[in-house]
This record gives sequence, C-alpha cells and structure tokens, in this order.
Amino acid sequence: MKFFIDTANLDQIREAQDLGVLDGVTTNPSLMAKEGITGQENILNHYKAICAIVDGDVSAEVISTDFAGMVKEGEALAALHPNIVVKVPMIKDGVKAIRYFSDKGIRTNCTLVFSAGQALLAAKAGATYVSPFIGRLDDISTDGLELIEKIRLIYDNYGFDTQILAASVRHTMHVIACAEIGADVMTGPLSVMLALLKHPLTDSGLETFLADYNKSQGK
Ligand code: E4P
Repeated sequence: MKFFIDTANLDQIREAQDLGVLDGVTTNPSLMAKEGITGQENILNHYKAICAIVDGDVSAEVISTDFAGMVKEGEALAALHPNIVVKVPMIKDGVKAIRYFSDKGIRTNCTLVFSAGQALLAAKAGATYVSPFIGRLDDISTDGLELIEKIRLIYDNYGFDTQILAASVRHTMHVIACAEIGADVMTGPLSVMLALLKHPLTDSGLETFLADYNKSQGK
C-alpha cells in the first residue's frame, strides 16, 4: 500500500519524507490556498519544490472545468516534472480530458469521486488513479469504506489498472480498513501517519527496558 501525504505544506512533506515511508503527495486548490500560494507562477514553482523533496507521484489539480482549459493546464502541469500526475475532477469534460491525457501518456488522478459509477467511468477513461473521498462520505452519514470495497470488487472483476487512491482519510482506522480492503494508495495528513506509530504498550515497554538497562549499569 502506498502512502501519499495530502498537503501542500513543504515542512510536513519533508517530515513525512524523512520518515522514509512516503510514496507521493496529493494537493488540491484548497490545500494550496491554505499555504498562501497564489498566482499561477508561484503555484507552478510550488509544485516543482514538492517534486524536489519527494521521489514519487505528485498530484497537481487543474482549475478549468472545460475540456480545452483542462488540456491546456494539464499539459503545462505535466511538463513541470515527470512525477506530476494531473488531477482532474469527475465531471463530463473531466472524463473526456482523462481519456485525452491517457491517450497522450499523461498520467491522471480522477478526483472528487463519491460513487462506484464514477469510479467505473474514471477507469474506463484510463485514469491512473481514482480518488474516492471517504472522509467526506462519512461526514454525510454514508460509509466511505463501503465505496472502497465496491470499487475494489469492480476493478478486480475486469482487471482495470486504475489504482484506488483512498482520499479524505481522517484517522488511523481509515488507513487500516483501506489496507484490509486492498486500496492501492491512501492519502492523508501527516498527523494520521504519525498516529499509526503510537501505542501505549510501546511507550511503557520502552520505558521499562531503558530503566532496567540503566539499573543494570548501576545508573
Ligand atoms: C484528495 O486528493 C484530496 O486532496 C483530499 O484527500 C481531500 O480531503 P479532505 O476531505 O480532508 O479535504
């Protein structure tokens, strides 16, 4: 299972990279705005800065909602770095754009996916990744993990290559459940990755080991 970090914050990306378990980065316009990255040139430079930190796929989202605009933006984003994956929303022109990019060998991440039908369309259009937003589904009392299960079943039934990128991950149980179901990737905040390593028995066990060692050394 690949771990992507879902942020545009360079310090957090560096910290996850230093941990040695990071496989890529996802961003979106809200995350870029949160870091105060504005203006097209700054945005493009920020993607380059992210690519310089991480040796893995970096999703960069288009802002256009029409086919021609998405193609123009997506081609410019893809030209920035070989690891850029063009993030395209699940709308009619987005599906057309994914097919266009796929035919041109440009990799895509189909975002804002909330149903199995949308995931099926994304795979048929040739998306490299599909991003079902599980946390946002949970927010409206719909089981996000059930959607991951359905997509896994459908993709396996037909041998689709599109990778399931579980997005909008909010906590460690999301990560564990996605790993059990067989999601290819999860993307979440740094706090979720760090929470995975915590267990009170690890902390108390280590404390005892160190105390016993010190005692044995006459300290
Ligand atoms: C996915 O690529 C999105 O950036 C992201 O996971 C959205 O998560 P949120 O629902 O926490 O905003």
